[in-house]
Amino acid sequence: MKPSTAEVRQMFLNFFQNKGHQVVSSSSLIPKNDSTILFTNAGMNQFKDIFLGKEKQIYSRVTSSQRCIRAGGKHNDLTKVGFTTRHHTFFEMLGNFSFGDYFKHEAIAFAWELLTSRHWFNLPKEKLWVTVYQTDNETFDIWKKEIGVQPTQIIRIGDHQGKPYSSDNFWTMGKTGPCGPSSEIFFDHGPNLFGSPPGTLNEDGDRYVEIWNIVFMQFNRQLNGTMIPLPYPSVDTGMGLERITAVLQNVHSNYKIDVFTKLIQSAAEIIGTKDLNNKSLHVIADHIRSCAFLISDGVIPSNDNQSYVLRRLIRRAVHHGKMLGAKETFFFKLVDPLISIMDINDNNFNQKKKKIEKVLRTEEEQCTKNIERGVSLLNTELALLSDNTLRGDIVFRLYDTFGFPLEWTENICKQRNVKIDKIGFEYSMKQQRQRARNASNFHSKNKSVIYITQSSVFKGYEYLQLQTVITSINVDGESVKTISHGKHGIIVLETTPCYAESGGQIGDSGNLYDTNNSHFIIHDTQRYAQAIGHTGQIITGELHIGDTVIVKVNKQRRERICLNHSGTHLLQAALRQVLGQHVEQKGSYINDCFLRFDFSHYQAMTLEEIYEVEEIINSNIRLNALIETHVMKLETAKESGAIALFNETYSDYVRVLKINDCSIELCGGTHAKRTGDIGLFHLLSESSIAAGVRRIEAVTGDKALSILQKENKQLLNIAHLFKANRHNIYEKIHTFIQYTHNLEEKINKIENQKAIQESSLLVKNFIIIKDIKILVHALNNIEPKTLHIIIKKLKNHIGSGIIVLASILDGKVSIITNVTSNLTDYIKACDIITILAPKIDGKGGGNAHIAQAGGLNASALPEALIYIKEWLSENLKNIT
Ligand code: SER
Repeated sequence: MKPSTAEVRQMFLNFFQNKGHQVVSSSSLIPKNDSTILFTNAGMNQFKDIFLGKEKQIYSRVTSSQRCIRAGGKHNDLTKVGFTTRHHTFFEMLGNFSFGDYFKHEAIAFAWELLTSRHWFNLPKEKLWVTVYQTDNETFDIWKKEIGVQPTQIIRIGDHQGKPYSSDNFWTMGKTGPCGPSSEIFFDHGPNLFGSPPGTLNEDGDRYVEIWNIVFMQFNRQLNGTMIPLPYPSVDTGMGLERITAVLQNVHSNYKIDVFTKLIQSAAEIIGTKDLNNKSLHVIADHIRSCAFLISDGVIPSNDNQSYVLRRLIRRAVHHGKMLGAKETFFFKLVDPLISIMDINDNNFNQKKKKIEKVLRTEEEQCTKNIERGVSLLNTELALLSDNTLRGDIVFRLYDTFGFPLEWTENICKQRNVKIDKIGFEYSMKQQRQRARNASNFHSKNKSVIYITQSSVFKGYEYLQLQTVITSINVDGESVKTISHGKHGIIVLETTPCYAESGGQIGDSGNLYDTNNSHFIIHDTQRYAQAIGHTGQIITGELHIGDTVIVKVNKQRRERICLNHSGTHLLQAALRQVLGQHVEQKGSYINDCFLRFDFSHYQAMTLEEIYEVEEIINSNIRLNALIETHVMKLETAKESGAIALFNETYSDYVRVLKINDCSIELCGGTHAKRTGDIGLFHLLSESSIAAGVRRIEAVTGDKALSILQKENKQLLNIAHLFKANRHNIYEKIHTFIQYTHNLEEKINKIENQKAIQESSLLVKNFIIIKDIKILVHALNNIEPKTLHIIIKKLKNHIGSGIIVLASILDGKVSIITNVTSNLTDYIKACDIITILAPKIDGKGGGNAHIAQAGGLNASALPEALIYIKEWLSENLKNIT
C-alpha cells in the first residue's frame, strides 16, 4: 500500500516522537522579527535564536513539518518551478532538530533507520547515495563504518571554485545566521531516467534526487563572512515532504504524487483543458499553494518585499492559465479544492478562506485588465509591422508595463509567424537598469551637498524653548563662522527643542534670538547625519558660531502636528481593527494642517468601514487616555507587540508609544499628552495610490472642526438654493433632478416635432444638379442636435444627395453637411466644412460622409452658403 502525503508526514513525526522529540507546529511563512530572510525557507528558521544561544530552549530535541516558501531571497526556486520534477515555491519540510543534544552519530543513525527500516519507510539501501563536505572525515567514516554504506556511494563535495564554505554541502540560512557542513541523502530513481550521481556533470537530472539534508550546525555566519562558533553544536535536518512522498508512492516526479495529481486535475477542470501533462498546470498547482498560504499568513499583493513576490506568483499563475485557454477568472476557484485535497484543518487558514479568495480574484482581475491592454498594444504593433520581427523596445514595454513574460510574447508572435528582437529587448532592459542606477546616484549626490560633522541633542520631547550654543553655520552649502542680516542658511545648535523631520513628521519651525536681539526665523528643521540643522533667514543683526542663543519652537504649529501624529496612531489601530491585521503602514506624512497615512489593503474601503474607523478613533479620543512613551530594549518592545516598520533598522533601545490597549508602536515623533487633546478626528478622503496600497487623508483638532463647519455651511447654502432644509435636502434635489429629466424629455419631443415640420418644408427646397439632389439652406433657432435629426429625415427621404444645413441660435452658427455614400468619391462632407468653417470664423471637422462646424460670424453665413452652392455646381459639372 502506498502511503498518502498526509500519512508520510505523520510517520515522520511519529518516528521522531518515539525518539524523544517534541512535535512543534509549523510557524508562519513570514519570519517574525527577522529581516535577514524574506520568507520562512527552512524548518530551522523558527529555532534560529535557539541555535545562536540567544533564546533558552524548552526541549533539546524537536521535530516539525514546516511550511516553506522558496520564491525570493537566498533560496529561490521560482524559475525552476513547473519545469523540473522536484522544485516548488511552496513545500513542506520535515525536520528533526537537536539543540546541543545529539550530534553527527545519532542524526545519521536516525535518518538511516527511518529510511531503511522495514517498520518505517523500508527503502532499498543500495538505492541511497550520500554526500559529505569535502573535509568532513568524521561524517564520511560514520557512513562507511557505522552505517555500512559502500564507499563508492559516499561522495565528498568541495567548495565552488575553492571559495570557502560555498559548497552544496555547507548549508547557510541567508547572508548571516546559523550554518554548518551538511550530509545529504540521495535516492536513485533508476536507470530509466536521465542523470548521474551527485558531484558529477549530470547531477541535476531526474535520476538521483536529494531527499534529505542533515546539517551539523556549528557556526554563526557574519555579514563579512567570518564564522563564529555556536555556543553548542546542533543538528538541523530537512526532508522535502513532496520528494519523499514521490519516492514512497513510486513515482518519479513530485507532480505525480496524490496531492498534485488531484490539484492538477481540479485546475484542468476549472480552466477547461484536457492536456493534463501541460507544464502550465504544474505551475498553477504549485502557485495556488504558495499564494493561498501566503495570504493566510497576512501577505497581500503589492509592490514591495513579500507582497511583490506574491503578486508575481499570482500573475505568473494567471498567465499560465491564459496560455491554457482560461476564459474566466479561475485562480481563486482553486482554494476550495486545495482545502479538501491538502486536508487543511488549520483554523487560521480556514477562517481566512473568503479573504484568500477575494484577494486572488481582485489581483487576477487587475492582471487580466493589464493583459487585455497589453494584447491590444501587441495587436496594433503586429498590424503595423513592415517586416516579420517585433521590435525589442515593444517587447520590453509589454514586459515592463503589462507584465508579459518574454515567453508569452514569443508564443503569441510565433502563432503569427513573427519573430521577436531579443537583442533589442536585452538592450532596453540594460537601459532601464542604467536609468535606475543614475537615479540613485543623483539622489546620493544631492544629499551630500550639505555636510555637517557636529552633533546635536534633541530635547523637544520635554521643552519647547531652551538656551543653547551655535555649533555650526552653513550658508550656500559652505560652512561659515557668521551669518549676517538678510542671509538664508542652516544653523546647528548644541541642543534643540526643534524636531527634525523624520518618521513622516514634518520638521519644526520657530525662532532663534541672541541677547543683542539678533533674530533668525526657523522655517524648517532637518537632520544632517548627527547634527540637527535649522533652516531659515536672519532678519535682524548677525549670529556667530559659539553665540549663546534662545531657541523657541512655534508652539501652536507644533501642537497641531502632535495632534495629527497621535491621530495617525489611532488611525492605524482602528484600520487594523476594522479591516484586519494585514494593514501595514506603507508611508505617512504629518504636518500642522493634516495627516496622510498610506497602508496595505487590497480594495477601496466602503463608506461603512470609513465611518466605523472614524467612530472608533473618536471614541478613543473621548476616553481621554494617557499617551505614554517608554524607552526600552528593541527586544522587549517587539515582545510587547509594538508595531515596527518592516525593513526599518532600529537601534538597540527604542521609543515606544502606547495609547491605552489600542495602540503600541515604535515611534520617535512628538505627540499629544492625552487622546482627548485631539478633540476630533475627521477623515477627508480614502483613495488608491498603487495596487494594494490605499491612502487616507484626515484632519484633527480645530482644523477638523473648521472643515466640518465649512462643509455644513456649504450644505446649508445648497439647501437654501433649493428652498429646503438640512433634513429634506436630499429629497428636494432628487425631485428636482426628476423634474429636469421630465423637462428634457418634453423638449426632445418638441424638437423632434419641429424637425419633422422643418424637414417636410425643406423637401421642396432641393435643387438638382446633374441628377443629384442638393440642399443648401439656413434655418433659425434650431439646436445642432435637431439639425442632425432633420438631416437624417431628409436623407431618408431623398435616398441620395448632398445636404448643407445651417442654423443660427443665440448669435452662433452651426453647419452640418451630409453626403450620401454613393457620392463621397466626388464630394466629401469634410471638404465642404473645410471651406465653410473659416468663412463663419469657426472650426469644424468630420469625415467624407458627415461633418460639422460651429462659428461666431452669423452675418457671413448667407454669403458663405451662396459660395458653397456655386462650388458644388462647379464641381458636380465635371461628373460624367
Ligand atoms: N536547513 C537545511 C535545509 O533547509 C536542513 O533543514 O536544507
